Amino acid sequence: MNGLHNSTAVILAAGLGTRMRSDLAKVRHKVLDLPLVVHVIRAAQKAGVGRIVVVVGHQADSVKADIHAHCPVGNIEFALQASPNGTGHAVLMAKEATAGAEKLLILNGDVPGIEADTLEALAMVHEHSASPLALATAEITNPTGYGRMVRSENGDLLDIVEEKDATEDQRGIHEVNVGLYLVDREFLYEALADATPANAQGEIYLTHVVPFATARGTNGETLLLEEGPEMWGINTRVELARVESEMRRAVIHRHQSQGVTIPFPETVEIGPDVVIGRDTLIRRGCRLQGQTRLGSHCTVDEGAVVLHSQVGDGAHIKPYCMLDSACLGDGVAVGPFAHLRPGTRLDDNVKVGNFVETKKAHLKAGAKASHLSYLGDCEVGEASNIGAGTITCNYDGVNKFKTTLGKEVFIGSDTQLVAPVEVGDGAFVAAGTTVTSNVPAGALAISRADQRNIEGWVKRKKARQQKKS
Ligand code: UD1
Ligand code: MG
Repeated sequence: MNGLHNSTAVILAAGLGTRMRSDLAKVRHKVLDLPLVVHVIRAAQKAGVGRIVVVVGHQADSVKADIHAHCPVGNIEFALQASPNGTGHAVLMAKEATAGAEKLLILNGDVPGIEADTLEALAMVHEHSASPLALATAEITNPTGYGRMVRSENGDLLDIVEEKDATEDQRGIHEVNVGLYLVDREFLYEALADATPANAQGEIYLTHVVPFATARGTNGETLLLEEGPEMWGINTRVELARVESEMRRAVIHRHQSQGVTIPFPETVEIGPDVVIGRDTLIRRGCRLQGQTRLGSHCTVDEGAVVLHSQVGDGAHIKPYCMLDSACLGDGVAVGPFAHLRPGTRLDDNVKVGNFVETKKAHLKAGAKASHLSYLGDCEVGEASNIGAGTITCNYDGVNKFKTTLGKEVFIGSDTQLVAPVEVGDGAFVAAGTTVTSNVPAGALAISRADQRNIEGWVKRKKARQQKKS
């Protein structure tokens, strides 16, 4: 159990994010396909904080919806900051919601790279300090945009000065405020009661806790972080891309060190929750996201997109496939250019070939649909073969209907299966058939006009055309 168990986290997510120049609230912008604020909440949850209060304001309902969609809601509450009057004002809005907490862990909602270990390290600093305030800082090459840490000659922390309020000399300070604080709640609200908007932005700054502590003779204690995505706040799209690229690299590095081969890591996107087995190969330009899980010894070829899908061992996803909420067994092969839509289930050793689209389709072990098919709302029995160009006609414009094929069924090329319809075990459907009624097990179904051959027809046609011209 660490020092944060008895703390309440306050996450600031009410700001406009003016510098993003966006219709979307800043904390809703995504890195690694998750909204910024969700990364921050997850770090706090992972560090074991008792409760989380998220301060929302700008686009509050959408921010809440993002959070509900991506975080188990258990210990998350919301406080409202109706108008964005600064980070200190945002924390004031959480006063009621945090009542009873001894310590508050305050995090900016725009620092998605923050990690649980760092929150725990800050708790250690706080625990071993006599000061009611501990906060994270970093020494960075280009401090533009950050609050600067002002220290005395002997290194005691005196103040934080925002860029817009800083003197020329203060702008030259490279130690910056990260926006991560652990502070005794009672002290915090005394400090904020003392804060005024007498600054360049006319806001109540949370950073006022620092000079307030100094004035009380109890300088804030700091935890120095390395320069990097852990401490990068996002205020602009350039910063968004920079953090994304670093966090993406870190996820890929983790998979590589766990035995996944990724020869062109700079071209691959893998979400933070994706799980990949050993000796799986992820080729150039793939995107794996959401709750995706790939087994071991799989190959995912160029340009594949895999979302919220489960894939067994030894599967082969060939170039340019799209899988969304699909579940694939061991030894399955799909693509190239296959589209597996939600509710697709391919059991072991199923083969789905090029230009095949599936939706709510269950293909049982060893079944094959090798070329150019649409399979929707259907069940295909073991070892059945679906010929090229087969279509399940599952939709009459209003309702969807199911197609059920037994095992070892042979569906000839260019068949339409007009659902609802069933084809029994071992039945054979001749090429070009439109199946409109059930086919018994072992039967042949054929629906075609008889073929006529008209001898010499081409020659006579040409002669007619020549006469005309
Ligand atoms: C803030 C710090 C700065 C620090 C930097 C680190 C202050 C005054 N400044 O500056 O010292 O170096 O973060 O990234 O704290 N927010 C609200 N309500 C508001 C204003 C902001 O909830 O009224 C939220 C925002 O949604 C954001 C976070 O607080 O998630 C930080 O706000 P932002 O405007 O980005 O502060 P910075 O200017 O980056
Ligand atoms: Mg910021």
